[in-house]
Amino acid sequence: MTSRRHFLAAMASLPLAASPLGVFAQSPARRLGMPPLLDARDSGVFRLAAQAGQTNFTGRGASTTWGLNGAYLGPTVRLATGRTSRAEVANGLNEAITLHWHGLVIPGEVDGSPHQPIAPATTWSPELPVDQPACTAWYHSHFHGATARQVQLGLAGVLQVDDGQDDARGLPSDYGVDDLTLVLQDRRFTRRGQMDYNLSMSEGMSGFMGDTMVVNGQVGATAVVPRGLVRLRLLNGSNARIYPLSFNDRRDMHLVATDSGYLDRPIALKTLVLAPGERAEVLVDFSDGVESGLVSAQNPNAAMGGMMGGGGGGRPFVVLPFTFDTSLPARITQIPQDLGGELPLRNGANIPVRRLNLDMPMGAGMMFGSSDAFGVNGRPFDRGRIDFAIGRGNVERWRISADLMMHPFHIHGVRFAVLSENGRAPFAQNLGWKDTVLVNGQVELLVRFDQPAPRNAPFMYHCHILEHEDRGMMGQFAVS
Ligand code: C2O
Ligand code: CU
Ligand code: CU
Repeated sequence: MTSRRHFLAAMASLPLAASPLGVFAQSPARRLGMPPLLDARDSGVFRLAAQAGQTNFTGRGASTTWGLNGAYLGPTVRLATGRTSRAEVANGLNEAITLHWHGLVIPGEVDGSPHQPIAPATTWSPELPVDQPACTAWYHSHFHGATARQVQLGLAGVLQVDDGQDDARGLPSDYGVDDLTLVLQDRRFTRRGQMDYNLSMSEGMSGFMGDTMVVNGQVGATAVVPRGLVRLRLLNGSNARIYPLSFNDRRDMHLVATDSGYLDRPIALKTLVLAPGERAEVLVDFSDGVESGLVSAQNPNAAMGGMMGGGGGGRPFVVLPFTFDTSLPARITQIPQDLGGELPLRNGANIPVRRLNLDMPMGAGMMFGSSDAFGVNGRPFDRGRIDFAIGRGNVERWRISADLMMHPFHIHGVRFAVLSENGRAPFAQNLGWKDTVLVNGQVELLVRFDQPAPRNAPFMYHCHILEHEDRGMMGQFAVS
């Protein structure tokens, strides 16, 4: 306790604690909990029951929230790769939802897109033929027009595709001990502790911007870890906030996996930018026993002048402080050098190019928060329109450009290589396999389409700022 109090005092003297998201000041350190682990590797069956509940995030009062098998968020579902698992998604809510498996490379018919709604009091039981490299994926509601609100209420959780090889790789894998699952979300609460999702006019443009950091559904918690190597599986489950993450003492984050799987070897980073929908797995060496904090710079989209505000000033804020329990085993003390992952090949020569522009309302539309100009290539999403069809097994180069601000771009049913960002080599954090990438100007992707998606169950591509997606910055394609 002494050391914790000392740590808190030390952190409180840093300028970041005074930030709008300074969760630190308000609550005594509470140990961060993990989402419950639902290990379906052996059974091949798992059940997720969508339900409403009450969550008291702030200690000031309870808020009505949604979750899967609980009041807010859902369990970490662990699936074995190389086998078909069956999900049973029961909708105990009073409105229709969907459940999309973001990051699973599986057919359109079981993707959980807007074409597979689950009506209240019904159960959807898709068979998920998972046969892809191990990765950290996630699931969330994708009911068109209600996705942002339903995810804000809590309809999301983490998926781990597991190949049983983490010990051989030398990676920490003790769930919640040296292998932490961290769902990063920003939320806003009223004085009585109610979750507040009333969008301001500027949030109509930028997407929702909370003022309180919530990790795994908890406010003001501290991660307690062994004095050794710790793996962080980070998911940006926020509606719109981009987190430029670093440690306040500048310690390295060793990137070992991107959205869709392991790298060949770790890449040491000081800063990792995590956009909505993205995942990253990093190793952090805590063997020095020095307490520190994961911090974030403000949302870079807020830097676009007052209109895009909502992020507050330019100060960093605390995402999650780390402290130690020396009775926890420090099983792994060396950064493994060979992770066994394969990086994508980046040869896009002679591959046909498809251009997609992510459209934002400009000028008067922007001033009045008009929503008619969110779209892709000049058209808002239309559930009844297939935007294009692709031959199964085809490879395409997608050139994505983004209006006005940064947009995290996601494609269903695939994993892709980032060929270039604004004409240059991709950032180090985008060298691995991805399914979501932050577009700040223009990116080029190399994508192969192996999974079938008939016209009645097409794959989506969209901006993962959920308010943009709901307003039409999305399209769909068939693969056959
Ligand atoms: Cu994570 Cu189409 O979504
Ligand atoms: Cu997805
Ligand atoms: Cu967007």
